[in-house]
Amino acid sequence: MTLLSATGLAVRFGETEVLSGVNFAIGAGEIVTILGPNGSGKSTLLRALIGLQRPSSGRIERAPDLRIGYVPQKLQIDPALPLTVRRFLALPGPVTAADITGALERTAVDHLARRQMAGLSGGQMQRVLLARALLGTPPLLMLDEPTQGLDQIGEAAFYRLIEEVRATTGAAVLMVSHDLHVVMSASDRVVCLNGHVCCEGTPEVISEAPEYRALFGLGTGGTLALYRHLHDHDHDHDHDHDHGHRHRHPHRRPAAEEDAGHG
Ligand SMILES: Nc1ncnc2c1ncn2[C@@H]1O[C@H](COP(=O)(O)OP(=O)(O)O)[C@@H](O)[C@H]1O
Ligand SMILES: [Mg+2]
Repeated sequence: MTLLSATGLAVRFGETEVLSGVNFAIGAGEIVTILGPNGSGKSTLLRALIGLQRPSSGRIERAPDLRIGYVPQKLQIDPALPLTVRRFLALPGPVTAADITGALERTAVDHLARRQMAGLSGGQMQRVLLARALLGTPPLLMLDEPTQGLDQIGEAAFYRLIEEVRATTGAAVLMVSHDLHVVMSASDRVVCLNGHVCCEGTPEVISEAPEYRALFGLGTGGTLALYRHLHDHDHDHDHDHDHGHRHRHPHRRPAAEEDAGHG
């Protein structure tokens, strides 16, 4: 069943057309990653799909009464504001204490319920944001660069969590990333975006697609191989890995990716 679709979608800001001719659909329970360089229109596409950004042309169709758990790319939380994790989850609306505990358990951060938001590590924060998006068990999650700022181990752990969430809740997940490796193998489908859809398909197909390689300036090195390598070694991924011990890896990350800023 299709939850959400866009046909011939275009978005312009003033004179600039940021998205054009985008056809996109996501079905129930699917994990789809939108991949593209900074400024390629990924966040704009998500916002248009949700209805936060008016398209200049095209059609968007949502399943009736579709609820979407959305984590925007930038979430401003005033570090001076005293706010516990539990309170943060209670803010959006009527939720019970049991709902909050359940959501935090789903993302394995229930032990952080009384902690201050401002004191969380990057990995903990991403899990708390995911827990918040899970409240009310929406059939569709939209996560805009959820692993921004995490290292590859942290990223791999987060994508594992996403797969778990899909398995337990059946939610479809639409994720955005400008990063390459880890993303791919967790996804059923990858959509490469650069103002328009350059290519789409399974991670295996995409990693070999010339459009994808051109988009990220990749040579012949396999990015999927890198992820599989990480996966093979059974590190303890269940804890935070964003506190500075970067995994040493024989394969250098592609320069294009290292240069990519966080847009
Ligand atoms: N509200 C806005 N007004 C004007 N330009 C915008 C607005 N939002 C995004 N843009 C521009 O649209 C382009 C795509 O932005 P965005 O969707 O955020 O890209 P991405 O998420 O892929 O990095 C960028 O050039 C950005 O500067
Ligand atoms: Mg963005």
